[in-house]
Amino acid sequence: MRTEVAIIGAGPAGLLLAHLLAQDGVESIVVETRTQEYVAARIRAGILEHSSVELLRSVGLGANIDAHGDEHRGIYLQWPHERHHLDFVDLVGRSVWVYGQTQVQADLVAASEAAGRHVVYGVSDTAVHDLDTDRPSVTFTDADGVQQRIEAEVVVGCDGSFGVSRSAVPETVRETWERVYPYSWLGILADVPPSTDELIYAWHPDGFALHSMRSDTVSRFYLQVPNGTDVTEWSDDRIWDGLATRLGHDQDGWQLTPGPITDRSVLPMRSFVQQPMRHGRLFLAGDAGHIVPPTGAKGLNLAIADVALLAPALSALLRKRESGLADAYSDTALRRVWRCEHFSWWMTSMLHTSDDPFDAQLQLSQLRWVTSSSAGASGLAENYAGLAIGF
Ligand code: FAD
Ligand code: DHB
Repeated sequence: MRTEVAIIGAGPAGLLLAHLLAQDGVESIVVETRTQEYVAARIRAGILEHSSVELLRSVGLGANIDAHGDEHRGIYLQWPHERHHLDFVDLVGRSVWVYGQTQVQADLVAASEAAGRHVVYGVSDTAVHDLDTDRPSVTFTDADGVQQRIEAEVVVGCDGSFGVSRSAVPETVRETWERVYPYSWLGILADVPPSTDELIYAWHPDGFALHSMRSDTVSRFYLQVPNGTDVTEWSDDRIWDGLATRLGHDQDGWQLTPGPITDRSVLPMRSFVQQPMRHGRLFLAGDAGHIVPPTGAKGLNLAIADVALLAPALSALLRKRESGLADAYSDTALRRVWRCEHFSWWMTSMLHTSDDPFDAQLQLSQLRWVTSSSAGASGLAENYAGLAIGF
């Protein structure tokens, strides 16, 4: 096979990149290890930043967000006996949208199918070659067991945190940073209307809890749990009791409504960055280049921001033979990546409890400052509602 851009990974980064490139008339082929059904069903992020929504709208992917998404002015931050609303619109003039990654993925697949784009699912043994030349290639075994090769001008690794492209950058060239957190999240999806109008991020001595949502009838929750937790340790009753305690049945008559749990899984948390995000004709985008802990909902938004920068850079490189934007891609993307790395680490550190009572006092002091000072509140709001793409 021959194309201009070979994209590895059909998650949001890969499919959105293919969509953006097609708008500039640049051809691509996407290869994906999993089946289309598996990728569509994966339950992950739930919040879109202002600039992600604007970008998706500007490229014809906003209709379902406008019809079915839920615009939120802000979030609640709380600790025992206190709940405070931060209004991002008042603070920084930008809102966020509740719109699940499964919905973003479905919109991308629909656009890809409508345009007849080439996505190869169910591949194995993906490998990249000749990155130092201007004829790089990707090889893989297709679902029928046949060896395939895509010859391209550029390869983009959108293959997430466990992909192959990141490690194709030679060790002598790449630098990596990593932090593994001493706790995980138990993620729960339930068929029950949300018990709140906007997300609640709760600090509690038993551990962090988050009340999020997907629609008027589906709620999403997270509980801080120790690393190595087995989901079977958490019965439905234990989950609802834990959520009710941490989310605060002590908050002025507020009540959590339980309902049938339809999905539960344990998510480990880490921060990771690899730089540069380009090596020769290989570019990295999304989780292939960087991971954030989920507190603050940055992972999906960063993937969108990366490909929004990369698509015009590749169009200029391939259509006009102008390399300026492509040469600047790694540095430009990494400025925003590191800002989001810091914000995600900061939100995580402020809200997750440890065994150290000194930490707890610092966290509560920080929470009181963020919810009572306009400088503190605006800092959180500016980062949560999201910085401009290309910041
Ligand atoms: P991915 O969505 O991971 O897509 C990468 C794709 O590449 C996958 O489909 C994978 O199958 C494919 N692939 C991997 N290796 C190969 C290969 N060798 N060949 C071909 N294809 C390959 N973020 C939030 O903001 N909030 C959340 O609540 C949240 N929850 C999450 C829960 C989980 C379990 C995970 C893993 C992530 C979560 N994230 C969350 C992060 C967010 O979902 C990611 O940041 C986002 O999916 C990044 O998109 P991506 O396209 O870069 O990577
Ligand atoms: C969701 C996940 C997050 O990590 C977050 O900070 C907010 C919402 C969610 O899945 O809905």
